Amino acid sequence: MKQKLIMNLLLALSMLLVFSGVTQAAGDATAAKEKTSMCEGCHGIDGYRTAFPNAYHVPKIGGQHAEYIIKALEGYKNGTRSHPTMTALAKSLSQKDIEDFAAYYAKN
Ligand code: HEC
Repeated sequence: MKQKLIMNLLLALSMLLVFSGVTQAAGDATAAKEKTSMCEGCHGIDGYRTAFPNAYHVPKIGGQHAEYIIKALEGYKNGTRSHPTMTALAKSLSQKDIEDFAAYYAKN
C-alpha cells in the first residue's frame, strides 16, 4: 500500500519535471512582449517598417524561425556576427531573453 503511494508520488514528480523543462526550453513569447520596445524602433513588428529606411537596412525578423533568431542573436553576442548596435544589444540579453524574443518574433 505504502509502496504504491510512493510510486505515484514519484510519477507525479517526474511529470512535473518534464513539463517545466518544456516550458523553459520553448521561450516565452508573452514575456518578450514587454521587452520588444528595445527592438521596435528598428525592427518594425508588422511588416518591414523602420524609422530610417534609407539610412539603415534593418532585416525583417518577424516570422523568422525561432532557431534562426536565436542563432543570429547568439552570433552578435559571441562575436561571430558583428554590427555595432546589435552586438551591444545582444550582449545585454540573457539566454532567456534571447529565447523569449525568438518565440515572440517567430509568431509575429
Ligand atoms: C538601432 C537599431 C536596432 C535595434 C534597436 C535592434 N536592432 Fe536588430 N538589427 C538591426 C540591424 C541594422 C541589423 C542588421 C545587422 C547586420 O547587418 O548584421 C539587425 C539584425 C538583427 C537580427 C538578425 C536578422 C537577420 O536576418 O540577419 C536579429 C535576430 C535582430 N536584429 C534582433 C533584434 C532584437 C531581438 C532586438 C531587440 C532586443 C533588436 N534586434 C534591436 C538594428 C536594430
